[in-house]
Amino acid sequence: MKLTMTVNGEARTAEVAPLKRLLDVLREDLLLTGSKEGCGEGECGACSVVIDGQLVNACLVPACQVQGSAIVTVEGLAAQGPLGERLSDLQRSFIEHGGAQCGICTPGMVVAAQCHLDAGGASTDAVLREALAGNLCRCTGYQKIIESVQLAAQGAR
Ligand code: FES
Ligand code: FES
Repeated sequence: MKLTMTVNGEARTAEVAPLKRLLDVLREDLLLTGSKEGCGEGECGACSVVIDGQLVNACLVPACQVQGSAIVTVEGLAAQGPLGERLSDLQRSFIEHGGAQCGICTPGMVVAAQCHLDAGGASTDAVLREALAGNLCRCTGYQKIIESVQLAAQGAR
């Protein structure tokens, strides 16, 4: 099928099998390798992207379901400026405050956290832990991830 969608604000097309996973379309056909595969079963959140405003695990979504959709990946959170890519405050906060270690969970965490903040979600410890409950991390113990989001939300990086 000819898949047409908007990815990170740009119209994109790809010739793909209808049941090809969106995660693979992003990584293999569009060369957007920021989204990671952890479990491949909808359990870890490493592949999190936003589809039409909803946080979704891209490993569970077939291409045929996103025809015409607007998708945001972790790459889409960075701004493109005259000097190249500029990481978002949230992306930088993860780097500066230890929210990213091995990095496998990080793109999904950042996308999920940005989605939560964009929806007006609170940044208290308990609310953030709930909002990020679908994103698993085996490295950080979560506290530094929570702090990274909170500091970015407060503009106090
Ligand atoms: Fe998609 Fe784990 S790789 S949820
Ligand atoms: Fe390694 Fe989260 S930083 S899994």
